[in-house]
Amino acid sequence: MNKIEEYISLINSSLYEYVKLMGDEEDKVAEAMLYSLKNGGKRVRPMLVLEFCRACGGSVESAVPFACALEMIHTYSLIHDDLPCMDDDDFRRGKPSCHKQFDYATALLAGDGLLTLAFSVMAGTELPAETVIKAVKLLADCAGYLGMIGGQTMDLQHEGKQISLETLKKTDALKTGRLIYAACTLGCLVANADDEKFKAAETYAENIGLAFQIVDDLLDITSTSEELGKPVGSDEDNKKSTYPSLLGIEHSMEMVEELTKKAVDAVSVFGNDGQFLADYAVKLSVRTK
Ligand code: IPE
Ligand code: IPE
Ligand code: MG
Ligand code: MG
Ligand code: MG
Repeated sequence: MNKIEEYISLINSSLYEYVKLMGDEEDKVAEAMLYSLKNGGKRVRPMLVLEFCRACGGSVESAVPFACALEMIHTYSLIHDDLPCMDDDDFRRGKPSCHKQFDYATALLAGDGLLTLAFSVMAGTELPAETVIKAVKLLADCAGYLGMIGGQTMDLQHEGKQISLETLKKTDALKTGRLIYAACTLGCLVANADDEKFKAAETYAENIGLAFQIVDDLLDITSTSEELGKPVGSDEDNKKSTYPSLLGIEHSMEMVEELTKKAVDAVSVFGNDGQFLADYAVKLSVRTK
């Protein structure tokens, strides 16, 4: 198993433990939470939590609850993102979206359930209270109306409108960038990293965060739904402004390359311990799903 597979296996087994604790599969909402959480996914954000923690000299084990909490919040954001009142997409991670498999109300509540479970999981860890409180605040702020929710709001408000590149950048930095920022800095927080490492994690996160959304927008045009596990052409159908729609495919790809270089440079302060993060940034920039 390579390191990515090892991380995914650790993340999945821990996530499924939490899910098991949720218990009663007769409960439709618990079943829907399980369905979406177990539904694959690249596990990018939890992997970044674990690897930043390791690169900063912390114990990977102690970062696992925070990694899982972040994946729960990400999964909830996808369940809600697919609802008819948002992007109205019927497939996610290769299966019917939560509201197609169940119903709208169940999908809404499953999202709410995952969001609140995330905070319960973080609050239940045995790290020093000060670290836990900082982590809870960091994730709440990044996921909230000044973070991911704020970005999702802007994304919807801009549908069908001509917006500037500056506005698009701000939207993407919030809707996608903030949870990636949370991932990188949560790892540092758990490891009690110094300022230099925190700063490096922030710069890495800002650059891969934007690159990640640009690649997502490119794949919505260039890939197939079989490969992606979610519908393609969704952005055009919803009249979204995206990097490729504003700048064209070529120029967007160049931006991804530039942003990735900046991210790779940022983690050079970690020396050999930054190698995985540098390679991972490149891997994400050329991903096909
Ligand atoms: C999709 O995120 C939504 C965006 C923020 C672009 P991912 O591409 O990480 O989705 P999964 O978790 O692998 O399904
Ligand atoms: C969603 O961006 C970002 C979230 C916060 C969920 P997209 O709407 O482009 O994500 P996909 O393409 O549906 O995964
Ligand atoms: Mg969306
Ligand atoms: Mg969407
Ligand atoms: Mg997309």
